[in-house]
Amino acid sequence: MQLGRKTLTAVVTGTLGVTLLAGAAATSWAAPAKTPAPAAAHPGARGVPDPTTATLRQLARHTKLEIGTAIDTAALRNDATYREIAAREFSSVTPENVMKWYATEPQRGQFDFTEAEQLMAFAAANRQKVRGHVLVWHSQLPAWLTEGTWTRAELRSILRQHILTVAGHFRGRIWAWDVVNEAFNDDGTLRDTIWLRTIGPSYIADAFRWAHQADPKAILFYNDYNVEGINAKSNAVYALLRQLKREGVPVEGFGAQGHLATQYGFPRDVLENLRRFGRLGLATAITEADVRIVLPVDNAERWAQAAGYSLMLESCLLERSCISYTVWGFTDRYQWVPGVFPEEGEAAIYDVNYNPKPARDAMARDLALAPHSGRRG
Ligand code: XIL
Repeated sequence: MQLGRKTLTAVVTGTLGVTLLAGAAATSWAAPAKTPAPAAAHPGARGVPDPTTATLRQLARHTKLEIGTAIDTAALRNDATYREIAAREFSSVTPENVMKWYATEPQRGQFDFTEAEQLMAFAAANRQKVRGHVLVWHSQLPAWLTEGTWTRAELRSILRQHILTVAGHFRGRIWAWDVVNEAFNDDGTLRDTIWLRTIGPSYIADAFRWAHQADPKAILFYNDYNVEGINAKSNAVYALLRQLKREGVPVEGFGAQGHLATQYGFPRDVLENLRRFGRLGLATAITEADVRIVLPVDNAERWAQAAGYSLMLESCLLERSCISYTVWGFTDRYQWVPGVFPEEGEAAIYDVNYNPKPARDAMARDLALAPHSGRRG
C-alpha cells in the first residue's frame, strides 16, 4: 500500500519514467531467476489483474473508486458493441440526457421516465451504480417552463414538485444525484438563470432539501465545470458549500465535471482542490471527464489527451473523498464535443471504431498503480 501511494504520488508530480523503471527493476530482482512467469494473467505482486488485458472496472476494484461513463440511450438501444463495452468497462453509469428536465417533465405535471428506465435496467443487469443527472440546471429545460411567466411562488412550487417527483420516482435506486448543476459563472458570481432571477439564491439550498426529502440515501452533489483546479469559480463553490454545510443543508458531494482541452493545458492543483472539498466532509468526484483536441488530431495530441485524463484520475485516486471518476461518453462515435465546439473533437477514450486510445491505457495504468485504499464508500 505504501509503495502504491508513493508510486502514484511520483506519477502525479511528473517523474513517471523514473517511477516505472524503479518499479520494473524491483519486480525483476525479486522474481526467481529460472522460472519465468506464465503468460496467463495472474494477480501479480500488486494484487491487481494484468492491466494490459483487464477491464477498467476490474482494475478499479481494489481502489474502491467507481469508474463510470455517461450513457447515450439511443446508442444503448441500437449498437451492440456500445452495449458490450459499456457493460464491460464501467462500474457506474450516468444518463447523458434522459434524466434532464426536458425529458422527464416535457409538459407541466406530466412525467416520462421511459428512457431513463432503460438506463436503469441496463445498470441493474450489469451491477452498475447510477449517478442521477440532473435535477436543477438552466439548460435543456422544456419550452413550457422557459417560455412561461412565473411568480416566485409559482416557480418555487414547480421546482419543488419536479425534484420531489423525479428523485422520488427513483428513490433508493440512485447512488448519487447531481442536484444543482452549473450555478456559477467563471468569475465566481452566481449565474443569471431562470432560477436565480425568479426565486433568488435560496433555490440552491431548497433544491438539496427537497432532494434529500425525496431520496434520503442518495449522495447529493453540487456539480460544475472549470472547477477542477483552484480558481475564482471553485473558490466561490467552496464558500457556498461550506456555508450550506454550516446551515445543515444536506449537500454531500462536490463534482468537478472535468471537461478539459489540450489547447488550454491542464490545471496542476486538482488534487489540492479535491482535498479542500473533502475536508469539508464532502464526497468528491470527477463527473464528466473528457479531453477535447483541436482537429485534425495527431499522436502528440493523443498523448496530451491521455495526460489530461490521467491527471484527473490520479488526483482522484490520491484523495480518499473522491468516490467516482466518470467519462462523458467513452467513444468518439457518440460524443457531444463536435456539436458544441466546432473546431474540436475526438475527446473520448475510444475512437469512432471502438479502438482504445492512449487515454484508455493511461487510465488502466493509473488504476493498476493505485494503492489499495481506505476510500470512503
Ligand atoms: C451535454 C450532452 O452530452 C449533450 O448530448 C447535450 O446535447 C447537451 O448536454 N455539462 C453537463 C452535461 O452537465 O449535462 C452536458 O451534457 C455537458 C456539459
